[in-house]
Amino acid sequence: MWEYTDKVRDHFFNPRNVGEIDNADGVGEVGSLACGDALKLTFKLGEKGRIKDAKFKTFGCASAIATSSVLTELIKGKTLEEAAKITNKDIADYLGGLPEQKMHCSVMGREALEAAIENYKNGGTKKHELEGKVVCTCFGVTENEIERVIRENDLATVEQVTNYCKAGGGCGGCKGEIEKIIERVQGEKEKAPAVAAPKKGRKLTNIAKIQLVQQTINEQIRPALRAHGGNIELIDVDGDKVIVAFRGMCAQCHLTEFTIKDVVETKLREFVSPDLYVEEDKESADQPHHHRG
Ligand code: FES
Repeated sequence: MWEYTDKVRDHFFNPRNVGEIDNADGVGEVGSLACGDALKLTFKLGEKGRIKDAKFKTFGCASAIATSSVLTELIKGKTLEEAAKITNKDIADYLGGLPEQKMHCSVMGREALEAAIENYKNGGTKKHELEGKVVCTCFGVTENEIERVIRENDLATVEQVTNYCKAGGGCGGCKGEIEKIIERVQGEKEKAPAVAAPKKGRKLTNIAKIQLVQQTINEQIRPALRAHGGNIELIDVDGDKVIVAFRGMCAQCHLTEFTIKDVVETKLREFVSPDLYVEEDKESADQPHHHRG
């Protein structure tokens, strides 16, 4: 049996705001029935852009019901800007905590909220989980999502990541990649203040150079690629040669590949050293189908 707080029990046995608002201003749907959890959140705005009403429908366990119920309570009366600041941790804290294995329910709540706000702003029904490269195919969890739960909840192990977003909880094939993401995110945190943009002409040690290249890729380049469904991986740094592999969309389109290589080179020269040049590691790229004719 799970150890639930009284608040969780209360919201499970007497969930608030169950249902769906007709003509809602924002609709957010996340999860999938195949994964055992799904949540639909609808809200209506009232005066001064504050959320007047919110309702949810969920298919899930006690925690999913309790977190969704609390979420609707938390966002009522808030502006969208205020609501957008709610993290999964806020939801769990409000409930006096959740069993670690159930933290993913609070993450699902936050995702549904984001999807609903996005839907209101841009009219899209873009499913939150589709942003970024999918790391865990069993549960359809993206790298963005994994990075975020690690950051917001300061997670340190793959097991925790699984508890928070399910990634890694199926076949386990993605665990290695999750491990790498944890290392990177935690590493960034420690290094963040220490590594600044280089001064022109400064001689970098090899280690500093590699770190800077990695950091520049992580912060300057990868987010832009992700926005287009692609990704980049640093394979090696050999003197001034930076070897990278493009993943996803970028590896599949010859044209894009060229432009992106230039962009990467420009960024690396700007942030690391003007002598750098980029080479693409074809072998480790995804099976590309070049449109070369
Ligand atoms: S791919 Fe993540 S558990 Fe199977």
